[in-house]
Amino acid sequence: MCGIIGYVGPKSTLDVLLGGLRRLEYRGYDSAGVSVISAGGNLETRKKAGKLDNLVSEITSHPLPESHIGIGHTRWATHGAPTDGNAHPHLGGPTSKLSLIHNGIIENFGALKAELLAAGTKFASETDSEVAAHLIAAEFEKTGDLPKAFANVVNRLHGAFTILVIHESQPDVVLAARRNAPLVIGLGDGENFLGSDVAAFVEHTDRAISVGQDEIVILRAGSVEVRTFDGAPVTPTEFKVDWDASAASKGGWSSFMAKEIADQPQAVADTLMGRLESDGSVVLQEIDGLSAEDIKNIDRIIMVACGTASYACDVAKYAIEKFSRIPVQVELSHEFRYRDPIVTERTLIVAVSQSGETMDTLMATRYAKEQGAKVLAICNTQGATLARESDAVIYTHAGPEVAVASTKALVAQITAGYLLALFLGAGRGATAQAELRRLGQELLKMPANVTHVLERLEPIRELAKKMADAKSVLFLGRNVGFPVAMEGALKLKELAYIHAEGFAAGELKHGPIALIEEGQPVFVIVPSPDDVDSLHPKVISNIQEIRARGAKVIAIAEEGDAEVGNYAEHVTYVPKCENIFSSILTVIPLQCFALELSTAKGLDVDQPRNLAKSVTVE
Ligand code: F6R
Repeated sequence: MCGIIGYVGPKSTLDVLLGGLRRLEYRGYDSAGVSVISAGGNLETRKKAGKLDNLVSEITSHPLPESHIGIGHTRWATHGAPTDGNAHPHLGGPTSKLSLIHNGIIENFGALKAELLAAGTKFASETDSEVAAHLIAAEFEKTGDLPKAFANVVNRLHGAFTILVIHESQPDVVLAARRNAPLVIGLGDGENFLGSDVAAFVEHTDRAISVGQDEIVILRAGSVEVRTFDGAPVTPTEFKVDWDASAASKGGWSSFMAKEIADQPQAVADTLMGRLESDGSVVLQEIDGLSAEDIKNIDRIIMVACGTASYACDVAKYAIEKFSRIPVQVELSHEFRYRDPIVTERTLIVAVSQSGETMDTLMATRYAKEQGAKVLAICNTQGATLARESDAVIYTHAGPEVAVASTKALVAQITAGYLLALFLGAGRGATAQAELRRLGQELLKMPANVTHVLERLEPIRELAKKMADAKSVLFLGRNVGFPVAMEGALKLKELAYIHAEGFAAGELKHGPIALIEEGQPVFVIVPSPDDVDSLHPKVISNIQEIRARGAKVIAIAEEGDAEVGNYAEHVTYVPKCENIFSSILTVIPLQCFALELSTAKGLDVDQPRNLAKSVTVE
């Protein structure tokens, strides 16, 4: 939540800051602001409530001077309403020569504010962040040493924060500190960058450093110094960013979400690339942090994640248990951490996160590590905290996901889950090698299958446009179709603000069927008629039950399913594939439906209300 960027170097700072904020806006869009220090040595700030475009208009009416150092912020409000006054940057000291931006929550801000108020400090906002600005300014007055003053104050702050500071008296340096919130350095030639993630500066450099917990950065155009909060020097490790800037732009699409839905064949292909041999065997070199012995010793897997990523875990559970016979439990990260769960050294935690910065998931994995468990991350963002803190990482190569609602990251997470299932199946000897290779070969067909689905979405788009007035939509599925139903409902809630629920189709008659009345739209994810576990006839019966009570059935079914068309008002067919892998295909029409319905209602699909993409507070 909240996106931050800092820059020092020869380029036009405003261009760098606004370009970075545009790519970080998915992190929060309640307000935005920038501070720069002009060539003449004056600190100037512009900030505005609302989306980044409001800030751009403000700067057009009140232009900023040419500058080569600055900081920028896009906010997801926590303390204080999303107003101009509460927008970042916040100025510190009686002469307002210091500017600060903050991502996170300063938990002890109440006590610190009381201290400042007692000393006569005047506050311009209701934020926790402004407290830090005044404290650093006051400490600098006392010590005359900006890095020292900065370190003294960040050591007093509790909670989660990434803080960036510039000061008019030192126009060549940006200071940054990180505790429990993300911060990445971008290394340029005679210029350097700071960002919440690499999207902030991907247009300018592919060389990056991920800043560790409780570390301070002293950033100049020609140097980068990293220290601990205690002042000890840190030798950081550089990594190469494999996202390119064009992947973080709309590229002619009407929205990032539309583009990201279209990116899905590539996301699946790139996640499989180098991990599946042509004969279907799985190679997961990334897991070398976990020895063969570790894998043999696993007695239980607990998958932790939130929201859409948790549905990827639900799908993976079916596959991992089926192929490896290791029991899998899926837990929402925030529930897991605080219920005294049973975790031992033989538990493998699989933490799934697009951003790798979701605080609930980070806290869950830290807790599990303290209990002695090994943590395997499935993560989309290089240099993310989750990746740093895990014993091994399988990166999903979906590329930058900018739309707040997750689409391509989900299919990449599901793909990684299938790879893990096949890998564990082989490692545990629970499924015959020949069968696993056959399944691997089936998985290799999925990118083409996804393309096939994408090419046939027009009818569901038309249907969505006609349903813009729907008040409630239900989603039913069984087996891997169940998490798909949950995801279909979540997408519709968050994008179109329509009441939606996903259910296991078998659960319907245990209560939810009471919701069905004349005209109630119900999506049903229909399994393959060739499904060996014979779920198809059961789902057809579920359809009959709801139709008998007036439901309008919209089915997602496999091509060649001769029966379903007799009972549904609308059917979207997806290609035949191994039933366990079908979730990658059946979820796509539901993403598209939510996008079209939201668009038909005139809503902002990329930035739905009240949400932020990267939830970095608990
Ligand atoms: C919904 C959505 C969220 C995220 C969740 C976890 O479309 O995107 O539910 O899936 O906040 O985020 P990550 O994967 O970054 O941990």
